[in-house]
Amino acid sequence: MIIRKSPAELEKMRRAGLLVWEILQKLSGVVAEGVTTRDLEVIAERMMSEAGARPAFKGYYVPAAGSKYPYVLCTSVNDEIVHGMPSAKRVLKKGDVVSIDTGVQLDGYFGDSAVTVPVGDVPDETKKLLSVTREALELAIGKMRAGNRLFDVCGTVEKHVTSHGFSIVREYVGHGIGTRLHEEPQVPNYVDRRNENPRLKEGMVLAIEPMVNAGGAESRLAQDKWTALTKDGSYSAHFEHCVAVTSNGPWVLTRP
Ligand code: MF3
Ligand code: CO
Repeated sequence: MIIRKSPAELEKMRRAGLLVWEILQKLSGVVAEGVTTRDLEVIAERMMSEAGARPAFKGYYVPAAGSKYPYVLCTSVNDEIVHGMPSAKRVLKKGDVVSIDTGVQLDGYFGDSAVTVPVGDVPDETKKLLSVTREALELAIGKMRAGNRLFDVCGTVEKHVTSHGFSIVREYVGHGIGTRLHEEPQVPNYVDRRNENPRLKEGMVLAIEPMVNAGGAESRLAQDKWTALTKDGSYSAHFEHCVAVTSNGPWVLTRP
C-alpha cells in the first residue's frame, strides 16, 4: 500500500527535507582535494544533532549486509555506486567524484537526498555522467503529477540515461518515504513490468534516485558487504530528491 500524506504531514516532511538539503549544501562546499570522507561525516553528524534530528541511516538494518549501517552518510567515490562508508583513509583527490547520500528523521518524518560532487576539475566524460544523471532526476520530478503513473517516472529516467549511452544500475532503486525511510512503492530507474504501475495521487511522496554508470550496468559488493561498486571499474553517479505529488504539481521537499 502506498501511504498518502496530508498537507500537515507534508509540512513535516518539508522540514526534514530542508535540513537534508542544508547538510548537502554545506558538504558540497567542503568537498576539495585533501578532504576525507570522514571529515564530511563529522560535519553532517554535528548538523543533525544541532537541529535535533535523528540520522536516518545510522543503525539502519540492511538484510543484504547482515548488519546495521554505522554512519550518518553514505560517501561513494568514483566506481562506488552506493553505500560507500566514510573513512579517514579516504582522501579525496582531484578528478574524483563523490556521491554524498544522507537522510534524517525530524518530528517523526524522513527526508533523504543525494548529490554527486566533482573534486576539482574532472574530465568532460565525467561531467557528462553527472549532468545526464541530474537531468534524468529533474525530468522524472516533472512526471510527479496526479494522474500520471509510476512507470512514467521510472521510464523517464531510463530513457534519458540510455539515450546518452550510460547504464542504469538495476539492483538498487528509489522508494516511497514518510514515517519510514523506505515505504512502498519501489521506484526503479527503469520500467520493471513485474511491478504494479499505480496511478500517482496527491499526497504520495517518492524518493527518486537514479544511479548511473559510465560503463556497464553490472555491480558487485565490496568485501565490507556494504559498498556497491561497478563491476567494470567505471565511474558512477547518484542524485536523489524526495518529491511529493500535490494539487500544484511536483513539490521537491529536499530543496528550497
Ligand atoms: N540512501 C539509501 C536510500 O536512499 C539508504 C541508505 S541504506 C543505509 O535508500 F543503510 F545506508 F542506511
Ligand atoms: Co533513498
